Amino acid sequence: MKLFAIKFTMASAAAVAPLASAAGAAYFLTNSDKANHIVASVIGDDGKLSAGTATFAGGVGSGHTDAGFDALFAQGPLLAKGSNVFAVNPGSNTIAMFTMDAADPTKLTMVGQPVSSQGEFPQSIAIHPTSGNICVLNGGKVNNVACFTPDPEQGLVAIAGTLREIGITQSTPPMGPPNTVTQVMFTLDGKRLVASVKGIPPAQPGFLAVWDVAADGSLSTGYSAITAPPGGALPFSLSTLPHNPSVIVATDPAIGFEVVDLNGSLRMANNGTTAIPSAAVKHVMASGVSSSMAVPGQGAICWSAFSPLTGNFYLIDPGTNTVTEVTVNSATYKPTMIKQYDSGANGNILDAEVATVNGKDYLYIIAPNRTSIDVFSLRAYGLAQKIQSFDFTQSITGDADLVPTRVVGMTAIWA
Ligand SMILES: *[C@@H]1O[C@H](CO)[C@@H](O)[C@H](O)[C@H]1NC(C)=O
Ligand SMILES: *[C@@H]1O[C@H](CO)[C@@H](O)[C@H](O)[C@H]1NC(C)=O
Ligand SMILES: *[C@@H]1O[C@H](CO)[C@@H](O)[C@H](O)[C@H]1NC(C)=O
Repeated sequence: MKLFAIKFTMASAAAVAPLASAAGAAYFLTNSDKANHIVASVIGDDGKLSAGTATFAGGVGSGHTDAGFDALFAQGPLLAKGSNVFAVNPGSNTIAMFTMDAADPTKLTMVGQPVSSQGEFPQSIAIHPTSGNICVLNGGKVNNVACFTPDPEQGLVAIAGTLREIGITQSTPPMGPPNTVTQVMFTLDGKRLVASVKGIPPAQPGFLAVWDVAADGSLSTGYSAITAPPGGALPFSLSTLPHNPSVIVATDPAIGFEVVDLNGSLRMANNGTTAIPSAAVKHVMASGVSSSMAVPGQGAICWSAFSPLTGNFYLIDPGTNTVTEVTVNSATYKPTMIKQYDSGANGNILDAEVATVNGKDYLYIIAPNRTSIDVFSLRAYGLAQKIQSFDFTQSITGDADLVPTRVVGMTAIWA
């Protein structure tokens, strides 16, 4: 998320080598069930990463004992915007707000105290494009969304009329990936809040839950559940198209990815199919220009990031350690696969973020099994190039506890 008007410079008398000026910082969560930490690494003027520091996130990470990676089945467990970072503590059912040092974006200070996420197992955070309000997605036994105002002194303050049940049958911690929630996001016009919910293929398709956002920040009491387009079943990460906030690109490890037309779908009759019995939920089939697209040979395309400079989406597949660049036609909304890039063996790549540094876009992807962040230069349409595999253990400082299988999240701030 872009940081306006501040240029960071690293000044450390103790540094043994001269440090390049910091153009920003990239953050992930250790998600350790002993103590959850935000790990920040410095983004240099060339987009490459260097050692930063770890900050206690105010709670514990996820307690589930699955031996695999992808501990939260989610995208967006922490989010940087302006001079703030927001993080979930999945095992504490809290979220916390931090402010960054004006001279060093890797130095974070908590604002107020961690607050209840108002549900169980918080997994993803969204920020409203104009008000700056925060919403959290809880995916445990008590699964819902809830929103907060980030107050510069008090920290996160709950907003009335925003605690809204989703209604899947789950446990805390959740069992997944099927039948779990994934990401929460505001559309670019700020008029809707959208959460992705995975189905149980083949019988039960997943859906996008869509709430209307009122001017006071409150949410519609019920939501519309848009069934994944045919072929899709496990909607995962979400991005809106830059020129049409009504059209969403969602990854889907059942097939590849899908385009979901909110307006076209929300106009449909209440005759879709989801497993949510609540009368407060309107069920509609994905319609209008919605479509799904199979990515040949995909393992599990789950995470994604959008580059404003190339205009394309970069989809992350931990099954094949591949990045797939796709574009969506701005007139027809037809998706096209452009190119695939190898991120290197054994990374088990997960969350990703694009940052703009000195007029160029860079893609940062967490590769927990190599304790690395892979950095790609997005030089132009179809011309991404891997430029670094940064060993993030250099940024694990103090008493931060690192268990690679639990590591999640990727967000960045830049000047
Ligand atoms: C989609 O619906 C929203 C809310 O009703 C409206 O503000 C917007 O103009 C519509 N967008 C398009 C592209 O039709
Ligand atoms: C749902 O309603 C739409 C019209 O709004 C119709 O085109 C579609 O066939 C219906 N689907 C089912 C499953 O009844
Ligand atoms: C993790 O890396 C090891 C090699 O260090 C490899 O054998 C293993 O298959 C990798 N696991 C995953 C899930 O990618």
